[in-house]
Amino acid sequence: TAQAASALQENEPMIRHEEYAADIDWNNLGFGLRQTDYMYKSKCTKNNTFEQGQLVNYGNLELSPAAGVLNYGQGLFEGTKAVRGEDGRLLLFRPDQNAIRMQIGAERMCMQSPSIEQFVDAVKQTALANKRWIPPPGKGSLYIRPLLIGTGPILGLSPAHEYTFLVYASPVGNYFKEGTAPLNLYVNNEFHRTTRGGAGGVKSITNYAPVLKPLLRAKEQGFSDVVYLDSVHKKYIEEVSSCNIFIVKGDVISTPSTVGTILEGITRKSIIDIARDLGYKVEERLVAVDELMEADEVFTTGTAVTVATVGSITYNGRRVAYRTGDGLVSQNLFKRLVGIQVGKVEDKYNWIVDI
Ligand code: COI
Repeated sequence: TAQAASALQENEPMIRHEEYAADIDWNNLGFGLRQTDYMYKSKCTKNNTFEQGQLVNYGNLELSPAAGVLNYGQGLFEGTKAVRGEDGRLLLFRPDQNAIRMQIGAERMCMQSPSIEQFVDAVKQTALANKRWIPPPGKGSLYIRPLLIGTGPILGLSPAHEYTFLVYASPVGNYFKEGTAPLNLYVNNEFHRTTRGGAGGVKSITNYAPVLKPLLRAKEQGFSDVVYLDSVHKKYIEEVSSCNIFIVKGDVISTPSTVGTILEGITRKSIIDIARDLGYKVEERLVAVDELMEADEVFTTGTAVTVATVGSITYNGRRVAYRTGDGLVSQNLFKRLVGIQVGKVEDKYNWIVDI
């Protein structure tokens, strides 16, 4: 009927075809949320499979107050980026790895998860539908945020009976307000991010709100972010609120091994591969805070932060400064990674996905 046809048209968003969104300062993006046009949505109910998802207009969700995610934190998120290459190609970086990580996280949090194919397709659809928000080459990226949340109502503590897989996106530039200037990090030995047997190794939403308090305190004192120590010995570095951490001493690069308390960062493992191929020795092991203080160089990695050079660390009232400037290992790795991501450096790993 005409009524049904017009209802369909209302639900079916029109993809906008202009090349770039207007009224946006591409030179000063930062990492704030900018509302884009569309998001992807798919639900999974009792039969344990996700329905075919669809793009809908970006907007608020309607949720039961008893939704599992609201009451018991049953939720996971992911982060990946779409960039515009200089040749105009639209490129994603290893979205299959985000899909796999979501599946592993979903198993830990007793949730159903979308297939790798559906996840990657959803990321592509979201990037394409919001193409006018993908910054010009070299100005930043479209940060894509897949979410998997328990939307079914549940009162007693148990898994929800309905899950929603959502993907939204926002154009971003540098994560830290410092831009690309070296970060000043603070080692907190009072608060811990997670502990053995917890969910620190997966991208559960429950890992992030508990670090807000130490993070805000550190920011009030002028630090960029916080380094957390292991909760048992209070001796080994684990990760930073928003990223993984690496130290360089001589020609050896070391990073804490992923033993369930540390997020298995996709940038982390890509940097390990790139560093080894560039001839560095890379060790994944326990890294004591004392070694951090004695390192030649320190850097952090993450999808949002990419590779960020650390200029100083403050721990127990002592501040150490690291070498910065030209010739840094972190800058060498950063250039190689970003070169691959934007299609300028040969992608021998097959990490890049054309949309
Ligand atoms: C990312 O790097 O994509 C993350 O999910 C970290 C987040 C704190 C922005």
